[in-house]
Amino acid sequence: MKLVIVGTGYVGLVSGLCFSELGFETICVDRDAARINELKKGVCPIFEPGVNELLEKHLNNTKLISFTTSIKEAMKNSDIVFITVGTPTRRINNEADLTSIMEVAKEIAENINSYCVVVTKSTVPPGTTNDVKNIIKSKVLSENFDVVSNPEFLKEGSAINDFMQPDRVVIGADSEKPKTIIKNLYKNLNLKENYFFLTTIESSEIIKYASNSFLATKIAFINQVSDLCEKVGANIQDVSRGMGLDKRIGAKFLEAGPGYGGSCFPKDVKAFINSAKKNDVNFSILETVDLSNEIRPKEIVEKIINLQPFDSSSTICLLGLTFKPNTNDIRDSTSIKIAKLLNEKKIKINCYDPAISKSDKLKNNQFNYFESPYEACNNVNAIIVGTEWKEFLSLDFAKIKKSINEPIIFDLRNIYNQIEIEKLGFVYYGIGK
Ligand code: UGA
Repeated sequence: MKLVIVGTGYVGLVSGLCFSELGFETICVDRDAARINELKKGVCPIFEPGVNELLEKHLNNTKLISFTTSIKEAMKNSDIVFITVGTPTRRINNEADLTSIMEVAKEIAENINSYCVVVTKSTVPPGTTNDVKNIIKSKVLSENFDVVSNPEFLKEGSAINDFMQPDRVVIGADSEKPKTIIKNLYKNLNLKENYFFLTTIESSEIIKYASNSFLATKIAFINQVSDLCEKVGANIQDVSRGMGLDKRIGAKFLEAGPGYGGSCFPKDVKAFINSAKKNDVNFSILETVDLSNEIRPKEIVEKIINLQPFDSSSTICLLGLTFKPNTNDIRDSTSIKIAKLLNEKKIKINCYDPAISKSDKLKNNQFNYFESPYEACNNVNAIIVGTEWKEFLSLDFAKIKKSINEPIIFDLRNIYNQIEIEKLGFVYYGIGK
């Protein structure tokens, strides 16, 4: 069984490496020649725990993974082709931009020689996999291919684990043969039968969008509840825990904070709203979720300024710039949004983040970067925790207290124990408490 993965972003690269780990010969394709050259040398373009080790193992030892820029070359004798190229949102109408998907589908169609299953793994609006099917159908006999939707549910920072130990494997197809072929790919994960969810193509596509949108809704909901907690003297962490004990609700994704970010939730919520609009369906709930998350960084900044009168003479230290810990991804990071809003008010920003890349620092060169959290906190008027990196849990605040101008902390991720921090002489503000 030979697999081809087109697109070496997070989903493509992690899936490719994990399929190699499951014993399959996998060829990853990307039109970005520089990226492919680096991958061929074993240099990984993404920051993701465990990926470097898998790349080293399957590139140099098992030789199960290889890289190329040519779909044609990769598809010689291939059995399954995964489309894992990006689906960014178009700025004008928040629609998912499917240009790359359709271009890839055309190229795949030109290179199918014998029976092949074409799988959409990228997050795509309902109807896309069928559009891919129609493109291929115009060039290839129906008996020579099938299309399948097999969305990926991995999270950045724990992507390999999520692939290897999934909550479910969703497979959408309109006949049994491709369903069985794709299901068999996951055989070596030794999952129980109930981990597989076999359905239609459209339902599978919607499962992915609805899952991300539902999780985003949970976050937006708990964020607004946290605002009420602040007003009435309740504690959002207790409220979340108390709610999460109800098995129907579940404890996960109920952590209040500065809003959801990253390359998936904001984009997928908008694209799902757009799909509903196109089909004349009222998605007012999700529209509100999107809006509430868009304005949240601004609300947080207003709250900070109302609590403490910072001005152009102030410097604030921001700890954590990535959209969440264990990634170097700053796409749609709420930390960066908050830093920019404060900066617009002429407040200077010192930052420390354990993973942000040099190029992202250059792109955001209005902030001062430091190599350690302690240096970043020197002589500042307050600290904001924007991302809950584990190393921030063990910071020596007694040491920081000696070098900080004003001992004030805005803990936007509720990672610290308020009483302990206050005992050290800090003024502490959390979220929703
Ligand atoms: C998300 C989904 O969780 C994955 O299942 C999905 O496969 C992926 O998108 C995707 O579509 O590719 P990811 O974007 O890596 O994964 O990040 P999450 O861990 O879901 O976090 C998203 C945002 O929500 C982060 O900004 C995080 O800080 C925020 N969040 C998360 C909260 O504010 N509160 C929470 O309780 C949980």
